[in-house]
Amino acid sequence: MPTHAIAFAPGRVNLIGEHTDYNLGLALPFAIAEGVTVHATATATRRIEAVALDISGEIDAFELDAPGRAGGWPAFVRGAAAELERAGVRLPGASLRIRGNLPRGAGLSSSAALEVALTLALIALTDEEGPDRLALAQLCSRIENEWVGARTGLLDQLASLFGAPDCALRIDFRSLEVRAVPLDLGAHALVTLDSGERHAHASSGYNQRRAECARACELLGVESLRDARPADADRLPEPLGLRVRHVVTENDRVDAAVAALDRGDLRELGRLLDASHASLRDCYAVSTPAVERAVARLHGAGALGARIVGGGFGGHVLGLLPPGATAPAGAREVQPGAGARLLERSRD
Ligand code: GLA
Repeated sequence: MPTHAIAFAPGRVNLIGEHTDYNLGLALPFAIAEGVTVHATATATRRIEAVALDISGEIDAFELDAPGRAGGWPAFVRGAAAELERAGVRLPGASLRIRGNLPRGAGLSSSAALEVALTLALIALTDEEGPDRLALAQLCSRIENEWVGARTGLLDQLASLFGAPDCALRIDFRSLEVRAVPLDLGAHALVTLDSGERHAHASSGYNQRRAECARACELLGVESLRDARPADADRLPEPLGLRVRHVVTENDRVDAAVAALDRGDLRELGRLLDASHASLRDCYAVSTPAVERAVARLHGAGALGARIVGGGFGGHVLGLLPPGATAPAGAREVQPGAGARLLERSRD
């Protein structure tokens, strides 16, 4: 059996299509260069020992046969091991060293990067193939739902696992079709800017938004908001009507963004980013004053469009800058990169 493996999983930026994944809608994310790396070494035990090298070397240890519950980052490690074993992957004991260069709670998907890197590294210590990438995304989402307590959808895990250089991914969360869409920006640049505010999905309004959408479905008698029509929003009490309006219009904006990219119409892409942000702020109510200030700074720098990325309630904003614009201080250019991968695997 392999004794050593190193896996890397990237974070993601969602170009457009926010809070649509758990409503079986559409999104257009791309994987970025930053992410989480896990070094795994097999041990002759049934015990996992993990160290988070960039959280001041914090340590977690547990028995594979009785992982038990924990809070914070150890919840991801215990969930990863337990969900893999539940899926029939028989793991050896292991020592794990975890290091990342994504800010946590910043809307760039540090959670999915951690889940994906952990599971790929652990699977690589066995002689099994493990689940295919789609099933692995679903397994990672269960880690987050059932072990961390955040009822997030599949956006982040699919983006991390299917990322492709120079491409965004059009994801249809009903059919689970993932299609690479070339992200040709010419001399334009996509930049992220930190609002300075951090969130934790398990405790922010994220789970509440999800519950509101489920309630809207019940009242409308539809399976998911993918089946809702614009007029349905008017039949619902507030804030449910507003939530539905966001989801329905956001799905349309994803395909409008794909069409704009096809035509190379980056001005239209910018307009769609602005429209998405306005909808997230006014209908979905996931913006904050710090996020608005970051969006205003990007517009002040000449951005063609700017919007919150990820779940909201803080985190990063994304801006599309035209050629020649100077990004505001602290902004970082992001480029679409490859998906999660094994960097090394060896036997002693
Ligand atoms: C977070 C979740 C995703 C998705 C986005 C909002 O990133 O993890 O599943 O719901 O928020 O689009």
